Amino acid sequence: MMNVDDAILTRKSVRRFLPKPVPEEMLRHIMAVSARAPSGHNIQPWKVYVVAGAARDRLAADILKAAATEPDKHQPEYEYYPTEWHEPYIGRRRKLGFELYSLLGIQRDDKVGRERQMNRNYLFFDAPVGIFVTMDRRLNTGSFIDMGMFLQNILLAARGQGLHTCGQAAFTWYHDIIRKHLPLADTEMLICGVALGYEDTSAPENGLVTERIPVDEFVRFFGFPG
Ligand SMILES: Cc1cc2nc3c(=O)[nH]c(=O)nc-3n(C[C@H](O)[C@H](O)[C@H](O)COP(=O)(O)O)c2cc1C
Repeated sequence: MMNVDDAILTRKSVRRFLPKPVPEEMLRHIMAVSARAPSGHNIQPWKVYVVAGAARDRLAADILKAAATEPDKHQPEYEYYPTEWHEPYIGRRRKLGFELYSLLGIQRDDKVGRERQMNRNYLFFDAPVGIFVTMDRRLNTGSFIDMGMFLQNILLAARGQGLHTCGQAAFTWYHDIIRKHLPLADTEMLICGVALGYEDTSAPENGLVTERIPVDEFVRFFGFPG
């Protein structure tokens, strides 16, 4: 069994996966473990759709077509990012983009290259398994906390099985297309996608080690001796 710190510290967003399939049994185990996430009043606001094989391929093809031909027609159901960015967040966001595209050899002014990489989201970065997590839209903002805990459990439980993942808010733009392929109720809001599979360790983009600000910059301790 993997130690909790090891699971957290070895998790990273993988953006190129091997074609090696993931058995349904393993995915069922990951879901059962993830569902132990806490939620306020134990309401467990999540629903999950897991796609592989032909179901995954058809969905990816449809979204890629929409992303190529009519991207402006599609909008997410909730705002994950601010409409106006400010520091320190805009700087951190730029740093991630700069580091990722540098590893991929995509230049700053290469719009086509950037778009091609962005659209690799819709191929689940080649992962054999795609996961969509939804929440009942009649709940309140507090349930987003529960959703985050549940999502993180998926990422960590996957590590426990030797797998890697990438959270994919990119899919929220195409919830209308996802609805054509999967039986989401009208009350369900698409919160996030997750690509899941085995890491392609030869891919330069998977070598990205994202930075974190030091503990003393975001935590203050009170009442401790010394
Ligand atoms: C909810 C959520 C959504 C994300 N959506 C995307 C996405 O659509 N595409 C992508 O390439 N990365 C996505 N990411 C990955 C982040 O860019 C990544 O977590 C961050 O840069 C930190 O890097 P790390 O995961 O390797 O530690 C997402 C992460 C989270 C938590």
